[in-house]
Amino acid sequence: MSEERWAAVDAYLAALLAPADPVLDGALEASTAAGLPAINVSPNQGKLLALVARLQGARSILEVGTLAGYSTIWLARALPPDGRLVTLEVDPTHAEVARGNLARAGLDTVVQVREGQAMTTLAQLVEEGAGPFDVVFIDADKANNAEYFSWALRLTRPGSLIIVDNVVRAGEVLDATSTDPDVQGTRRLHERLASSPGVLATVVQTVGAKGYDGFALALVTAEQ
Ligand code: SAH
Ligand code: DHB
Ligand code: MG
Repeated sequence: MSEERWAAVDAYLAALLAPADPVLDGALEASTAAGLPAINVSPNQGKLLALVARLQGARSILEVGTLAGYSTIWLARALPPDGRLVTLEVDPTHAEVARGNLARAGLDTVVQVREGQAMTTLAQLVEEGAGPFDVVFIDADKANNAEYFSWALRLTRPGSLIIVDNVVRAGEVLDATSTDPDVQGTRRLHERLASSPGVLATVVQTVGAKGYDGFALALVTAEQ
């Protein structure tokens, strides 16, 4: 089986299950036009995020890593009308493009884009007593994945779900001697998932439009 075939199947399934959508497609166009990298989740992955948020009955969602707001729109659309989503982004240009996309999606009153280093804005959220969030989606700089997961535990409750993107990285995660901080950060995440009490975690490996990668899924089962 080739990556090409996996991508073709992904495209086939996306055409059926996550078809063309003017708002989502427009968000990606605006992202490309502004020169942002095309590293958003795929349509089928966006739908998975929305499905998981629905399963959770989520009313509040936290996202770490906004980019142009593509995954943000998928997640925010899964919220009830009085739901809230906070998304954290370090790059002011990305935040600006995302705000435009969220306004065009009619989600600017639902979503707050917070600018700054996520390590800082996560600490601020804890200080403010924000949360508990029902779903957390971690998809920023992978070097800090383990730290973001620990902050997420402080901003959730038993029953919350934490999802982390890009935790397989074409299998690079196997390389214990890797000098790539993203790989080391993700390896530390997996070790933390394994050693955190009160967390039920697994990893789903994925193939398709985004190559070979994976999502970590961690259900908070006990008070942290
Ligand atoms: N979730 C998005 C993709 C996010 S790409 C989607 O699927 O549509 C990762 C984003 O994380 C980028 O926009 C990048 O600027 C941001 N980022 C990187 N390091 C960060 C940090 N330290 N704090 C906050 N955001 C960060
Ligand atoms: C890449 C993919 C991602 O989903 C992400 O969050 C960051 C980078 C990439 O393909 O480089
Ligand atoms: Mg990602």
